[in-house]
Amino acid sequence: MKALAHYGTHILSTGSSVPSICVTNHMLSDTIDTSDEWISSRTGITERRILPSNQSIIDIATEASVEALNKGFLKAYDLDLILFATSTPNDLFGSASQLQTSLGATQAASFDITAACSGFVIALTVGHQFIQTGMYRNILVVGADTLSQWVDWSDRTTCILFGDGAGAVILQRSSTNDILSFKLNTNGSESHQLRISCHTSVKNHATQEILYPQKLQHGYQYLTMNGKEVYKFAVSAVPASIVKCLNQINIDTDKITWLLLHQANQRILETVADKLKITDDKVISNIKFYGNTSAASIPIALNETFNSGHICNGDIIAISGFGAGLTWGTILMKWNIIQ
Ligand code: UT7
Repeated sequence: MKALAHYGTHILSTGSSVPSICVTNHMLSDTIDTSDEWISSRTGITERRILPSNQSIIDIATEASVEALNKGFLKAYDLDLILFATSTPNDLFGSASQLQTSLGATQAASFDITAACSGFVIALTVGHQFIQTGMYRNILVVGADTLSQWVDWSDRTTCILFGDGAGAVILQRSSTNDILSFKLNTNGSESHQLRISCHTSVKNHATQEILYPQKLQHGYQYLTMNGKEVYKFAVSAVPASIVKCLNQINIDTDKITWLLLHQANQRILETVADKLKITDDKVISNIKFYGNTSAASIPIALNETFNSGHICNGDIIAISGFGAGLTWGTILMKWNIIQ
């Protein structure tokens, strides 16, 4: 093992993938009591992508990762570590190993990070630690979720919000450091506000007293959310977290070139920007097209904004994730990708 030394983390490249099936607000209003007007005015969402039944989260995670590998001129074999931020794995023991196999990243260690909509920010900070210590050179960080499989499609208060997708970033050891500061938080006492709870049901009640372990069946309930409480939490915790990160490196809000928040609700993006006195033109938003893709929302938006030529070298990006846990976190990043 290498001695603990401080190396810099360079953001080498990005990638993303969304499924091809598009479900519009109008389509939803044919099956549940809602309307395009209500959804778009309350959330900013017009449509979302849904994973077809013949695809898995690994397919879109692989596509996002391959784009990042190609843009970074790396082979999967070059990866030392894969961090897979997802709360919708294929396997309760973790899906990162399936992603490793799908990519052919035979030299990479891999594990899942479960933190819902904060997952990508947390995974990026974990990867940053492994680079800083000198432990690893090339790390693939993927945020992917398929919450369409976990929402109750008859519950109009939640199902209209979510979509599926995947995004990826490759971190590389460097003499310079693109991660300027970060801050992670958790408030577990409010975890009931947004959850997919585990439940145990007894298959055979008549034999309850002489149950064998195999008579117990574990499963998960549908996603439940107290939207108003999560909204209030987001618009108060996120600006405070960003200010703390700015203070760590003694810079002011006006130095932020781009505000990239977890894409949960357009009104949240605008309220946080207002509180920080950041103008609308600096707020990255693609929620209109994808809805809330949980751990994937930040890396998808980062990749698409970069691909469209808007992000330039030297730009400072404030990235914040927030959601179930309750968890939230911010990373201040300096963009330094050579195209
Ligand atoms: O990624 C994790 C983080 N998640 C979030 O950040 C979500 C944060 N919360 C939100 O984005 C918002 O709270 C929602 C978009 C979920 C809800 O917006 P809201 O403005 O807080 O609406 P509400 O829950 O107060 O509902 C207002 C009304 C209610 O009717 P009444 O009681 O006023 O008659 C709801 O029953 O709108 C009704 N409603 C709907 N109507 C049409 C709720 N959902 C719908 C719907 N279509 N889909």
